[in-house]
Amino acid sequence: MARFPEGFLWGGATAANQCEGGWQADGKGDSTSDHLTGGTVDTPRRYTHDIEEGTYYPSHEAIDMYGHYLEDIDLFAEMGFKTYRLSINWTRIFPHGDETEPNQAGLAYYKRLFEHMKEKGIEPLVTISHYEMPFYLCDNYGGWTDRCVIDFYVRYATTLFTEYKGLVKYWLTFNEINCGMMAFGDYMSLGILPKQDGPTMFHNPNETAEDRTKRFCALHHQFLASAKAVKIAHEIDPENKVGCMIAGNLAYGYTCNPDDQIAAQQVMQQGNYYCGDVQVRGEYAPFAKRMWKEAGVELDWEPGDAETLKEGTVDFYSFSYYMSSCVSTDPEATKTAGNVFSGVKNPYLEASDWGWQIDPKGLRWYLNDVYNRYRVPLMIVENGLGAVDERAEDGKFHDTYRIDYLRKHIEQMALAIEDGVDLMGYTPWGCIDLVSASTGEMKKRYGFIYVDKDNDGNGDLHREKKDSFDWYKKVIATNGEDLA
Ligand code: BG6
Repeated sequence: MARFPEGFLWGGATAANQCEGGWQADGKGDSTSDHLTGGTVDTPRRYTHDIEEGTYYPSHEAIDMYGHYLEDIDLFAEMGFKTYRLSINWTRIFPHGDETEPNQAGLAYYKRLFEHMKEKGIEPLVTISHYEMPFYLCDNYGGWTDRCVIDFYVRYATTLFTEYKGLVKYWLTFNEINCGMMAFGDYMSLGILPKQDGPTMFHNPNETAEDRTKRFCALHHQFLASAKAVKIAHEIDPENKVGCMIAGNLAYGYTCNPDDQIAAQQVMQQGNYYCGDVQVRGEYAPFAKRMWKEAGVELDWEPGDAETLKEGTVDFYSFSYYMSSCVSTDPEATKTAGNVFSGVKNPYLEASDWGWQIDPKGLRWYLNDVYNRYRVPLMIVENGLGAVDERAEDGKFHDTYRIDYLRKHIEQMALAIEDGVDLMGYTPWGCIDLVSASTGEMKKRYGFIYVDKDNDGNGDLHREKKDSFDWYKKVIATNGEDLA
């Protein structure tokens, strides 16, 4: 019997701010991501309020997918993609975010792109906001801390649903919305400007209860915006299917000490179910009250909020999955690196060069866990190995380590389906090399397709197939039966 259902959505995923470039083309406004400099695993990216002359900002050109989209879609089609997850740059459509009329040139660009995908038989899966928003809204309204941003987002989303009716039916409202549960999500996810220029990607130990309240309220506003968008999407086209997108944060208790297990459970609650419950069930989880109390947070509930959340529950649960972490209450336990999820080193797992602990079986665990909690279809919309790719003597890229990583994860997906999980699709991250979100590097590559560009912005941007390209093509052609 086939291991993957017929019509399974095999594909790949990218985000506008990490691949498009063209940061001022055709009336595009300034995005939050356009204010982040390049970095490395040791040197954090910096936020600068003003764009500095002579400083390198990777999103400004990225891999210039804005100029190469036809070629890139053709390569995805050659691999046999059934779907391609991409995001729309909010600032191409509403450059400042608070305009009443959209920028026609921006709308036309995505229309051309979706039409080309349709010709090639690729179903778009569109993230409405992926780690970028109009910088103007942050500077003038405080980002998502201001409730009026809900209306700006709803206008933007409504414009997309109307304009692309018949071309797009799968939507995700916010990328990794649970990033707002962590202090570093302030800027990347919630558009709250740092008080001063400097590194943004790290936990803010100086976060006050007032800062936390702002963060939780901003996230509450995103939940409301998402719920309103889901409702409108269904009204505009009953064919629309809208999902949430959660950074899959799998935490194991380090030992069978009940303290470790409770700590791990709380990480699961904070890292997954807090957002998942609101978006899938339309209400905050029972543990949320304890969390608000411990964090000293007062949420700015308004009449009608509870109903809004209930009326806008999502059709499916999508998530990213790269690694797992271990939680220990023992201060001596050794720490391991990781950009989003820190934790304790797991002796049973190996880590990538960036310290992300590779755990394919954890994917089966997580799929079972969230499916049995929510009972809505699931989709893995990011997964992959960020690695350094070196050109071999024969001039090619033999990325066997990437194939190995993906193969092991796909095997666990098949087992989860056998466990009864309803899995709709799989879109590995960075199907074409792009800028790393956490470090701003090009060196951390995920792609089946190599792009000639380095960390300093040098390179002619030409595209080349890696070994994983042909391997994934075969996986798709056999609907996941041939993983050799
Ligand atoms: C996810 C994000 O957290 O991880 C992507 O949604 C990101 O935007 C991806 O690129 C991989 O992380 P990184 O830091 O290796 O680019």
